Amino acid sequence: MRILSATVNGFRNLKETSLTFSPGVNLVLGRNGEGKTNLLEALNYLALGRSHRSSKSDDLINFTAEALHVSLEVEEESGSVLSCEFGLERSGSRRFRLDGEAVRRRADLVGRLVTVFFNPDSIRLVRGAPQRRRHFTDHGLSEFDPLFLSHLTALQRVTRQKTGLLRDLKKGMTNPAEARRELESWNRELSVHAAEVCSGRREYADLLTPFSYSNHKLLTDNELRLSFSYCPNLECVKSHLKNDPEKPFQKERLAADIFTEIDYIMDSEIRRCRPLIGPQLDDFEVLLNGVDLRVFGSQGETRTAAIAMILARSDVLYQKRNIRPVLFFDDIFSELDRHRTRRLQEMSSRHHQVFVATARADDIANWRPEEIKAWNVQEGVFTEATDELP
Ligand SMILES: Nc1ncnc2c1ncn2[C@@H]1O[C@H](COP(=O)(O)OP(=O)(O)O)[C@@H](O)[C@H]1O
Ligand SMILES: [Mg+2]
Repeated sequence: MRILSATVNGFRNLKETSLTFSPGVNLVLGRNGEGKTNLLEALNYLALGRSHRSSKSDDLINFTAEALHVSLEVEEESGSVLSCEFGLERSGSRRFRLDGEAVRRRADLVGRLVTVFFNPDSIRLVRGAPQRRRHFTDHGLSEFDPLFLSHLTALQRVTRQKTGLLRDLKKGMTNPAEARRELESWNRELSVHAAEVCSGRREYADLLTPFSYSNHKLLTDNELRLSFSYCPNLECVKSHLKNDPEKPFQKERLAADIFTEIDYIMDSEIRRCRPLIGPQLDDFEVLLNGVDLRVFGSQGETRTAAIAMILARSDVLYQKRNIRPVLFFDDIFSELDRHRTRRLQEMSSRHHQVFVATARADDIANWRPEEIKAWNVQEGVFTEATDELP
């Protein structure tokens, strides 16, 4: 998958511009604060249906403008070209279009433009809160398994409804006997979706592990085993895992066990006014030769492991859907040693279109893939600099 070109208007500090990209490597060079990350953010927005760094749409609109508009031409793996657009207005309105057709739900964007974004914050995939790892897994799996995404969305909806009911109960806004019956029926519905979500997360972790391991080996030249494994919150899911480590979950039995476990603690949930257990508390273990990197990893180990895992996500996607995502590297080479930087550059540009933003030209010295384009950016203005590369 490749972004062929982009037209950007009113996005943060970027001056109105149209850029045509290289199918290989695209370098965005410039000092701090000139607009490098802003361009990558604009290109990545359509992949997520939101910004990777700001939750407020308003932040993205140029200080002096009322609206922003970004359009991209994306070449899909089949060779056909998809035109993607989004527009945001200060009034709060938000529009997405794919091939001219309005897209109403964010879920309909998932999997169309597929990207992988690395920045110094990516290390938190290993070190950060469990939510990071859940999100990584859920997003990666949703890219090729729409059924998983629909169960996940349903699970989140039911969990919200259940939370609302528990709060109403506390405020005395609902009849306790009726609320118990309603809670039981939410729990029943929740169990079905939870069994699907737990089972998907576990299978995805199993798919990722061999690729994480091989990418780690390529990056570091060492034989340490990197693995990513599922640590469910629910006791019954743990015991299904333990009893049948090789076989996929039997979802119907699992759903029944989940219902029993959650229903059993209804009184405590009512007392504490919130759901206390469930897949919303799942985590994943990142092990390097059996050592838990979440706790014991050094900066370097953790960073390399995070990169190996994110590349593994792209490998799984290729295996499942024959899609190579567009890769974004925002200021990450300065954090790796030279050997790993070089390896990562070689590995990534072999099969993917890559966008690299860096303030240090040193980081990309001597990296001359066949297809390369470069720009200097200054105060949001892009000047092509491919010919000036040393
Ligand atoms: N909504 C906005 N309107 C105008 N300028 C903005 C807006 N949001 C951020 N900026 C400016 O963008 C610049 C940061 O750009 P960024 O792409 O993060 O820099 P870098 O080149 O270091 O990656 C800052 O100068 C910031 O003030
Ligand atoms: Mg930046």
